[in-house]
Amino acid sequence: MSFKTEIERRRTFGIISHPDAGKTTLTEKLLLFGGAIQEAGAVKNNKIKKGATSDFMEIERQRGISVATSVLAFLYKDKKINILDTPGHKDFAEDTFRTLTAVDSVIVVIDVAKGVEEQTEKLVEVCRMRNIPMIVFINKLDREGKDAFDLLDEVEQKLGLSVSPLSFPIGMGYDFKGIYNIYEKNINLFSGDSKKNIEETIAFDDIDSPELENIIGTKAAADLRDNIELVKGVYPDFDKESYLAAKQQPVFFGSALNNFGVRELLDCFIDIAPSPRAKAAEERTVQANETALTGFVFKIHANMDPKHRDRLAFIKIVSGTFERNKPYLHVRQGKKFKFSSPNAFFAEKKEIVDISYPGDIVGLHDTGNFKIGDTLTEGEILNYKGIPSFSPEHFRYINNADPLKSKQLYKGIDQLMDEGVAQLFTLEMNGRKVIGTVGALQFEVIQYRLEHEYGAKCTYENFPVYKACWVQAKDKNSEEFKEFKRVKQKFLAMDKRKQLVFLADSQFSLQMTQQKYPNVTLHFTSEFE
Ligand code: G4P
Repeated sequence: MSFKTEIERRRTFGIISHPDAGKTTLTEKLLLFGGAIQEAGAVKNNKIKKGATSDFMEIERQRGISVATSVLAFLYKDKKINILDTPGHKDFAEDTFRTLTAVDSVIVVIDVAKGVEEQTEKLVEVCRMRNIPMIVFINKLDREGKDAFDLLDEVEQKLGLSVSPLSFPIGMGYDFKGIYNIYEKNINLFSGDSKKNIEETIAFDDIDSPELENIIGTKAAADLRDNIELVKGVYPDFDKESYLAAKQQPVFFGSALNNFGVRELLDCFIDIAPSPRAKAAEERTVQANETALTGFVFKIHANMDPKHRDRLAFIKIVSGTFERNKPYLHVRQGKKFKFSSPNAFFAEKKEIVDISYPGDIVGLHDTGNFKIGDTLTEGEILNYKGIPSFSPEHFRYINNADPLKSKQLYKGIDQLMDEGVAQLFTLEMNGRKVIGTVGALQFEVIQYRLEHEYGAKCTYENFPVYKACWVQAKDKNSEEFKEFKRVKQKFLAMDKRKQLVFLADSQFSLQMTQQKYPNVTLHFTSEFE
């Protein structure tokens, strides 16, 4: 197969949703279609169980399994599909944001009864900002839910999307009869038999055909015709270019649990979803079909076995091919590295591969050379953009509880931060270290892992911070900036990349500071122009 064909047949995407909308179930059904797993339930164990929010043992268990399920790849109709797992738990939102830098498109799952939920809003906003093409899947149609049109309105208003329905439900909940597939022009009848894997569909080029009454009944047929007329009147026709430009989002309805409407989604997905896209680096934009390898690290996963403290760095290949034992330049370190056992992912397994293509994810064993955001090339100096840090929500001082183990503690903190578990800030004034996290859960995870993987002990102390803001000065030598640094010294810290950060203790003080120093801009993310 030619290099061009290999690129064109790849679809690398993520599924995003608020927890419980059905992301895991949908992932599993997609894998079933690809023949990648034999039975339902295989992916399920990957989830953090409900009510386990304070149980870090559960997180550890989950971490063990999630190496395998970080990337789920399968073949379907000759397309190579890579699903990148995005944790739904809000405490791991940053992990999800980072993974979204490595996808070429996403599927957004929404619960028909709950509608658009908080986590969906946040994640979709990130995708919108990055112009990632999105397909919406409205799930759980076998249950009573909101009216389809109300939901479409909600999706447009709350998520700021512009939808084009490609399927439409016939009834809902108890009366759910099936789905009219606008994209394929056929009807798929719902039998409620969750065992069936491949559904039978009835072609309907013309829904005005009297046949429709015979199949779904007079009332349902009349309702469907009205609804489809309304859909056509209200929403724009599907336009692939607009979808690829992230200006329009097709919508499908179905029930993941019943494996209903999933095939339609997948068939349309492989048809319209983008193959690996060009990506902007600080220096230039790189096209997927360039022959020289480039790629970047979007995730680092620590080994579960404390005796082998190597880690797996996940690289998204942007261009060229990644070959085993070929030397590649680690741009940040300015050194070449060879990898004798790069891992590729297939279904729930990983295996050593000789060659990988744009869109693929390669797992590299690493003993501490990689950080999230690092770029690999064949020699070109290139730094991929788009893996910013966001302001954490919780901040605590971290103290060493065992003076004999301070080396282990710092090494541990360093490596956990490279993995992106949390963010570290070092106060300018006294060098004290502050950990910032998205959720309170990470503090427990860090404490536990420092002890079990590095033999170090830590304690925490509250540090009231409202937001961490990355500081940008118009002129670093100006009197204004010097005064800012002197007056606000108590609140200034360095992040891991040695960028200056202002730790505002309240919204009020943030506003006042910004007013007082108009030439010093305070950003909520670490990446700005
Ligand atoms: P998540 O990954 O987005 O968090 O959601 P997940 O797939 O785990 O689904 C959350 C719950 O919703 C699960 O039930 C799942 O079975 C159910 N579900 C998913 N799709 C559908 C659907 O189409 N219809 C209906 N009625 N339910 C659906 P659970 O009771 O929490 O878990 P389990 O006991 O089934 O594992």
